[in-house]
Amino acid sequence: MLKGKKILIGITGSIAAYKSILLVRNLVKEGAAVKVIMTPSAKDFVTPLSLATLSKNPVLIDLFDEDTWANHVMLGRWADVMIIAPLSCNTLAKMANGICDNLLLATYLSATCPIIVAPAMDEDMWHHPATKSNLEKLEAWGNKIIPVGKGELASGLEGEGRMAEPDQILEYLKNDFFFVKDLAGKKALVTAGPTYESIDPVRFVSNHASGKMGVAVARELAKRGASVHLIIGPTNLDTNISGINVQHVESAAQMFEACIEKYPGVNIAVMAAAVADYTPALVSKEKIKKNSDTLTLEFVRTKDILKTLGEKKSRGQILVGFALESNNEKEYALDKLQKKNADLIVLNSLNDAGAGFGYDTNKITIFEKDGKQLNYDQKPKQQVAKDIVDRIVNLLYV
Ligand code: CTP
Repeated sequence: MLKGKKILIGITGSIAAYKSILLVRNLVKEGAAVKVIMTPSAKDFVTPLSLATLSKNPVLIDLFDEDTWANHVMLGRWADVMIIAPLSCNTLAKMANGICDNLLLATYLSATCPIIVAPAMDEDMWHHPATKSNLEKLEAWGNKIIPVGKGELASGLEGEGRMAEPDQILEYLKNDFFFVKDLAGKKALVTAGPTYESIDPVRFVSNHASGKMGVAVARELAKRGASVHLIIGPTNLDTNISGINVQHVESAAQMFEACIEKYPGVNIAVMAAAVADYTPALVSKEKIKKNSDTLTLEFVRTKDILKTLGEKKSRGQILVGFALESNNEKEYALDKLQKKNADLIVLNSLNDAGAGFGYDTNKITIFEKDGKQLNYDQKPKQQVAKDIVDRIVNLLYV
């Protein structure tokens, strides 16, 4: 994602400057083109030689060098983003007041690219109203601020003011700043969790589904810009998820009704719920008493939501189903793909360790309508969700 991105790193005089060495190294490793500007006092903390070697570019410090002038205007136009990390209290104050007494500040003032700052200072300076108001000014001008961390400070005290770690800055660049919302404007419907099929007023039949996989898919779809409606059976998960419209249901019949209502108009439907295939033929109004040694209940089939949506599917709608199998996995998954008119089936095998109900990881194989089979390694469910959504995006746009 950072490959080919042009990143200008500004380093100011702060003990946290050592972290920028790692930041520059990791950005270059990710394939970004990196140029570094330092304030004169930053040289007291890290050497220009280290940064020039790691960035593979000369480090710029002075506005004038004998008879050459550093073109700060072109630097700010060259970059896709300028990151000032660490941002000292002194440079922050100068930025907030338009002061231009070194190359870094001149570049900041003339930059046409977005600016990100990662402040670093002692806790008392961090909490000073002057710092707060200077940061508010930067924020109002559209500069992005990466919050400071808590921990050991240069003064030896503990508290707030530590510059964000290089990894956090990298994550921010990848997951927020350069992140492309490839599902913006799309609507998605997701089901998750188990269903409860009542036997009597106190008992029900259900399964071990946790809802984690469906929720992870819903989160990923929302993160990529889709407007998501999540229909979820009873779970212990925290379903108060910002950006996702959550509808709680209990039984397969309720989930069916909710899906049928929401399906028209959605671009993507992901049926990750473990819906009961059978429900008691009769729900006893009274609690069933233990009057006999055995108890026989009659079950009837529930309506197959995925299959029904497959029948109603209109052009351009992408329908995704799940299959949890213990044997003949591929055969059954392909059968579901075809019988339910899905565009892709995500297969979990009960034979894979760390996959299926309740786990935080999953190991999937995706079968697509055109015959493609994609095998994935065991991963955390949120990463599995990304793999699934990548395939959905691929189907939507090819
Ligand atoms: N599904 C559904 N409605 C149902 C049952 C299942 O939408 N009443 C969906 C699930 O959300 C999942 C897929 O169908 O996406 C699972 O297919 P299914 O045929 O139910 O698999 P199993 O429950 O394993 O059933 P079988 O015994 O046929 O393998």
